[in-house]
Amino acid sequence: MNVNVRKVAIIGCGFVGSTCAYTLMQHGLFSEMVLLDADRARAEGEAMDISHGLLFAKPMNIYAGDYDDLKDAAVVIITAGANQKPGETRLDLVRKNAKIFRSIIPELNARGFAGILLIVANPVDILTRLTQQISDLPEERVFGSGTVLDTARLKYLLGEHLSVDSRSVHTFIIGEHGDSEIPVWSSSNVSGVPLHDFCEMRGFYDHDGAMEKIGESVKNSAYEIIERKKATYYGIGMAVQRICEAVVRDEKSILPVSTALHGEFGVDGVTLSIPAIVGSDGVERIVPIALNEREKELLQTSAELLKKTMREIE
Ligand SMILES: NC(=O)c1ccc[n+]([C@@H]2O[C@H](COP(=O)([O-])OP(=O)(O)OC[C@H]3O[C@@H](n4cnc5c(N)ncnc54)[C@H](O)[C@@H]3O)[C@@H](O)[C@H]2O)c1
Repeated sequence: MNVNVRKVAIIGCGFVGSTCAYTLMQHGLFSEMVLLDADRARAEGEAMDISHGLLFAKPMNIYAGDYDDLKDAAVVIITAGANQKPGETRLDLVRKNAKIFRSIIPELNARGFAGILLIVANPVDILTRLTQQISDLPEERVFGSGTVLDTARLKYLLGEHLSVDSRSVHTFIIGEHGDSEIPVWSSSNVSGVPLHDFCEMRGFYDHDGAMEKIGESVKNSAYEIIERKKATYYGIGMAVQRICEAVVRDEKSILPVSTALHGEFGVDGVTLSIPAIVGSDGVERIVPIALNEREKELLQTSAELLKKTMREIE
């Protein structure tokens, strides 16, 4: 199957899918976008509404379609699934959304889909692993948005805390996109200045307290937003746009996407977030970032938790 590099498709056009569609439309990366939803009218309505903004962006063909329409897309983004309800953890969602994925992926296999599959629905690490197992695509062409959003949240909060442009903050959240995620404090820096030194330059000396507070705040961001407005979608929409850009432009950007580990950091047979080189063929390779012993242990614990959940749905 030939792939049209200017074509993207989104499966699931709820809050997240439609926001991804709107964000992608504004950036002009693609010239064709197919929207697919179990609720066809919803996909049609979104396609109409978003198309009406095209005059103020760049020409693009946006339409509601079905699986035959998306088989040659360069990137298919899957956001289909229930979202997190107040009080529900991402892992609670697993059974519901695994069932949905088991109905979607065979449709892509049957049509010889050969592009990139970007998984966004939660729990994203589990659904990415499941997709890698049941998709006909090579493993590197299936990955999840992972902790790209969590890392953006961490950089944003650190930028606010230190009164510095968050784009100058270099750090990663790794592991599960969820409760066991890990901020990699040991190598965090602000434009090459070790984080603690930069903090002291700004008059902050309680490093342990600040790391605890900011790390927890990142981890609880989704819960906090869902409690107030029922869903999160703008941040993830921007993160999805960024990942698509890395793929379509073959940028070889280093992004903490959810990808399969095979022995790296002592983790095997689990899909979780770790910085990786992302380009037109998907995940080119994992980046061997420096982790201290504690971070490595936490990563292994996060992997064990994900393995346990995987076993529950197999
Ligand atoms: N990875 C992240 O960082 C991140 C961030 C926010 C939300 N999410 C996740 O994204 C997912 C979607 O969230 P939402 O707020 O858009 O939910 P939503 O309920 O608004 O939308 C889900 C959509 O999926 C559709 N759908 C369900 N089954 C389908 C199927 N078999 N085929 C096609 N469409 C189907 C529904 O009709 C609905 O329109 C959730 O799992 C949520 O937890 C992930």
